[in-house]
Amino acid sequence: MEHQTNGYTLEDFVGEMTAIVEQNKSDDELVVDAERLVGKLVQSDSWLPPAKRKPSNDSYARHSLYCDPKDRFEVIALVWKPGQRTGLHDHDGTWGAEGVVAGQIKAENFIQLEEISSNVVKLKHSNTIVISQQSTGKLLPPADCHILEAVGDQTAITIHVYGKQLRKFRVFSPLAEEGIYLAEEKQVEYTPKK
Ligand SMILES: [Fe+2]
Repeated sequence: MEHQTNGYTLEDFVGEMTAIVEQNKSDDELVVDAERLVGKLVQSDSWLPPAKRKPSNDSYARHSLYCDPKDRFEVIALVWKPGQRTGLHDHDGTWGAEGVVAGQIKAENFIQLEEISSNVVKLKHSNTIVISQQSTGKLLPPADCHILEAVGDQTAITIHVYGKQLRKFRVFSPLAEEGIYLAEEKQVEYTPKK
């Protein structure tokens, strides 16, 4: 699929997103607006500089694109070699929207049903979708857990916006009983510039 050049840039996105977070909307309204704007942003990739398109051999690469100075949202680019994937994880209680600028990503989505204890949770698989180039998805607690995986044979690049700077999240490992997971907190890292 050829990218259209519509002239919409990261700067335009940040301007529109900033105007939206200043309107005191609820999270379920914000995430709809964020997904719509991410959809505009991923119609073109000419705004994304080469340094933010670099993959990593160790895991998917995580590049920071923008942090709102009042911490009301952040924008990142993830770069995935074919087959690279995340574990099953949440997003520290915030909303998120994602869009694909290159390749394809598979999202296995889960809903958090119950906090059984401080590190044991009950999750339910809700659906699995493949998000293609120029398309989007979203997450909103309690439907805010997923596994993302690059599918197909080309490097994938995805753009993510969250309702705050994501500094930590939880990774879930299945326990013996179906639907029950051990939750471990992880600190978020950005891929270092080389
Ligand atoms: Fe995620």
